[in-house]
Amino acid sequence: MPDGAGCGGAWSVFRGDALDAYALWPAPSVIISDGAYGVGGFPGDPRTADGLVDWYEPHVKAWAKHAHPSSTLWFWNTELGWATVHPLLARHGWDYVQTVVWDKGVGHVAGNVNGDTIRRFPVVTEVCVFYRRRLEFPTPDGVMPAKQWLRYEWRRAGLPLHKANQACGVANAATRKYLTQDWLWYLPPAEMMERLVGYANEHGRADGAPYFSLDGAAPVTGAEWARLRDTWNHSHGITNVWSAPPLHGHERYKGNGLRSAPRVHRPGRNAAVHLNQKPLEFMRRIISACTSPGDAVWEPFGGLCSAVVAAL
Ligand SMILES: C[S@@+](CC[C@H](N)C(=O)[O-])C[C@H]1O[C@@H](n2cnc3c(N)ncnc32)[C@H](O)[C@@H]1O
Repeated sequence: MPDGAGCGGAWSVFRGDALDAYALWPAPSVIISDGAYGVGGFPGDPRTADGLVDWYEPHVKAWAKHAHPSSTLWFWNTELGWATVHPLLARHGWDYVQTVVWDKGVGHVAGNVNGDTIRRFPVVTEVCVFYRRRLEFPTPDGVMPAKQWLRYEWRRAGLPLHKANQACGVANAATRKYLTQDWLWYLPPAEMMERLVGYANEHGRADGAPYFSLDGAAPVTGAEWARLRDTWNHSHGITNVWSAPPLHGHERYKGNGLRSAPRVHRPGRNAAVHLNQKPLEFMRRIISACTSPGDAVWEPFGGLCSAVVAAL
């Protein structure tokens, strides 16, 4: 496992099966998965999407085991590959957030035509699907998602909903945003959560305390609450369609040898090593949006390790 430090971060490359590496790595802030596509793209990649659930299952289980409540997952695939694996991800606690589409443009059509594909609209996309860990809390009435739990605990404290506004020092926004059960709900930021928790434990019924507790012993603190939430650094003007032609030029990795690589990754002197190498800019976008400096980024299916390079 070559390790290193530089470019402002520490890195390690595990040369082997990612399943043997997960337990060695620090818990991830973000996992960027670019594994099997169900297209026979590398030895072991199933030839159709039908084999993808079996292929991903041990990885998805390991990701769930090692993730924080605040970890995110970015899952690159074809649309059919992702649709096939989505129920597996959902079953293991990954909540769908959105689909980013890589639009490679019409140039991608060249050379990609056969008797079948000529009778449909040309496919020039891959998808990268963003997931968060499902935030849930145990209660005597069963496990609840955060939205339901916040209102449940407030009610359990015997407090009328409008008192949340007094707790947060606002006219009506706290009840409307944090305790609503409709789609206008917001997860309270740490400072507002501290106020809600403090108020409920001070003014709520004495016999049910502590309220808003993660361990049943003490109310959650602002710092603990903040750690449950994934990082999101917003960039204005970026949508979920990312347009860039297939890589050419200096960023495209060309094979010169790579004799230790599997056959499909052992191209001729000037052939591209990877059919659909991901633009570094896309990996940078993901990492900038979802991490803070010093966070751990996992790239389980390294290949050219574009996510690692972008992270550094
Ligand atoms: C679709 S490719 C993409 C890799 C990378 N994103 C790139 O741009 O080169 C998937 C890679 O995962 C590797 N791989 C497949 N199964 C793996 C496993 N269990 N552990 C680690 N790598 C694996 C394959 O050899 C291949 O290089």
